Amino acid sequence: MQTELSKKLGIEYAVFGFTPFPAVAAAISRAGGFGVLGAVRYTAPDDLKRDLDWIEAHVEGRPYGLDVVMPATKVEGVTEADVEAMIPPGHREFVRDTLAKYGVPELPEGEAAGWRITGWMEQVARTQLDVAFDYPIRLLANALGSPPADVVARAHERDVLVAALAGSARHAVKHRAAGIDVVVAQGYEAGGHTGEIASMVLTPEVVDAVDPLPVLAAGGIGSGRQVAAALALGAQGVWLGSLWLTTTEADLHSPALTRKLLAAGSGDTVRSRALTGKPARQLRTEWTDAWDDPAGPGTLPMPLQGLLVADAVSRVQRYEVDPLLGTPVGQIVGRMTEERSVQAVFDDLTRGFEQAVDRVVRVAGRSGR
Ligand SMILES: Cc1cc2nc3c(=O)[nH]c(=O)nc-3n(C[C@H](O)[C@H](O)[C@H](O)COP(=O)(O)O)c2cc1C
Repeated sequence: MQTELSKKLGIEYAVFGFTPFPAVAAAISRAGGFGVLGAVRYTAPDDLKRDLDWIEAHVEGRPYGLDVVMPATKVEGVTEADVEAMIPPGHREFVRDTLAKYGVPELPEGEAAGWRITGWMEQVARTQLDVAFDYPIRLLANALGSPPADVVARAHERDVLVAALAGSARHAVKHRAAGIDVVVAQGYEAGGHTGEIASMVLTPEVVDAVDPLPVLAAGGIGSGRQVAAALALGAQGVWLGSLWLTTTEADLHSPALTRKLLAAGSGDTVRSRALTGKPARQLRTEWTDAWDDPAGPGTLPMPLQGLLVADAVSRVQRYEVDPLLGTPVGQIVGRMTEERSVQAVFDDLTRGFEQAVDRVVRVAGRSGR
């Protein structure tokens, strides 16, 4: 499973894995793919340093990357406290009432909300980059738009490829104009922030729109058959996020959440603004239902919504309040039915890929080609 891009990065399989967990990122790279650590939750530079040190120590010299979230619409010169002050009291009341309805306890004294959103503010993302550029990362990805020109230039000076996620061909063309090297075409099925176009339509559209830039297909990929389909659509590799959540190396801190993921079907997710203020696919829960209910106050724009719910999300996770407990995840969750090691996932992907390619070759042969 080699493409021009995988050869350029020196990896065996053109399988890129986004993950918030250092152990998963290192395992993906060790298995012959390309692990990309999601940095959004690192609001303290020392925490990011600690985890990049850990990856360095466990990646056996294989290449890896980092993903930051610099939204295209920026909140300039504004602190977290300024943003907090913009949240209407009625919304705070709605959060309080909803938590009270389910009897969700407060966090213990001194325990800060683990789930913070300030990584979505450009100034925080920049502190992450200051740390990351001291490490031999080979790729820097950005989630919500093209990164600023100075960041692209800084990456290129260090021979770091820059990738950006795109939910439409229009976004992808903007990325190309911004000097991005790799476009991740992320379809509607994907976990996390998504657009409205399904991967089957999006991938070839983006491939054609940015040709000859390499495109990675993301969204709904969980088997070798789907990897083969993505390459057939013109992608130079695949970018997976959901599948790693139920690997044994993932650290969800919640057996109840793992159980929910393993039990969920492909129809059990929803694209909701409840978590961040922008549409993000996640498990459908009574929490997302409450926010999506027209009788409720409605969600706030990013980054207000994320700040508003940060404490609530941490409390729900801390106490594993089942009806409210969720996570970003894509429709492929329906095929995530057992906990497996990252290596076992890779073995399955590569075997399935070979079988799919053989099948297509056989079918093409039968039709007389
Ligand atoms: C739990 C979770 C968190 C995510 N957070 C981010 C993020 O911080 N930055 C980003 O670029 N993409 C994020 N994504 C999207 C992934 O990078 C990837 O594009 C997506 O998961 C691919 O689709 P799939 O979920 O069907 O594999 C996240 C996905 C999941 C499942």
